[in-house]
Amino acid sequence: MKTKTAHNERFCVIAAVSPQIMQWELASYCPATSSVEAATTQSRHHVRGNAATAQWDSETRKQERYMTVKLRKWNEADLDSLVKYANNINVAKWLTNGFPYPYTYEDGKAFLTMIANDNPTKIFAIDVNGEAVGSIGIFPQADIHEKSAETGYWLAEQYWGKGIMTTAILEIVEYGFSTFDIVRIFARPFSTNPKSHRVLEKAGFLFEARLKSALFKNGEFMDEMIYAKLKD
Ligand SMILES: CC(C)(COP(=O)(O)OP(=O)(O)OC[C@H]1O[C@@H](n2cnc3c(N)ncnc32)[C@H](O)[C@@H]1OP(=O)(O)O)[C@@H](O)C(=O)NCCC(=O)NCCS
Repeated sequence: MKTKTAHNERFCVIAAVSPQIMQWELASYCPATSSVEAATTQSRHHVRGNAATAQWDSETRKQERYMTVKLRKWNEADLDSLVKYANNINVAKWLTNGFPYPYTYEDGKAFLTMIANDNPTKIFAIDVNGEAVGSIGIFPQADIHEKSAETGYWLAEQYWGKGIMTTAILEIVEYGFSTFDIVRIFARPFSTNPKSHRVLEKAGFLFEARLKSALFKNGEFMDEMIYAKLKD
């Protein structure tokens, strides 16, 4: 098992090669002898998914075996996949109203334009086999909160439950603490979103607080949950 230091070293090596690329392969789906050419050896990161117990049909299993995942910059060519996967009420209903539903091509273009010149990069595409299927961001705060950053994320529904976001959060945490002058990364999932709570817990975040009726979306009040991870 990799130590924390080794993980940091791995990140630094990748950053030296290409500052915007973090990549790992889903070991559960990739036999040691398979040629998952897109996955770099130095960035190998094992993900505990549900592969052992999932009942997939043979075609799905064949596709999953070759799934490689990485975080990378968004670019203009991602517009189609962005709109295809973001335009889903099952994704949008867990996010702020800044993430619209329906999610149109105009929305996608505005998003890609907005982040095109972001430096350092704060929002990464989650790329599976060359296709952008989700997004994760790290947002340093201002004023007296300047030593904290918020993370937010979503993934295309068809990729849920494979451990992808847990690893994406681990990667963004490493990136956040090594790129920005911050000591705390937090997330604010809805109280009604247990998948997101679980993902944060698996990525080492601690539950800190429940803000009663802090959220109002689609005509409903919900509590806001605060999860956070401190720099070691
Ligand atoms: C939340 C989300 C990011 C999770 O991504 P993911 O890649 O499917 O997450 P993972 O596979 O890493 O982990 C999901 C975990 O939730 C668990 N889970 C699933 N449904 C659950 C439920 N109803 N109650 C509790 N846990 C649940 C899974 O079992 C898994 O945990 P395990 O590995 O211990 O079994 C994804 O579902 C998503 O994009 N949802 C819509 C947008 C969203 O909610 N964004 C977060 C806003 S704060």
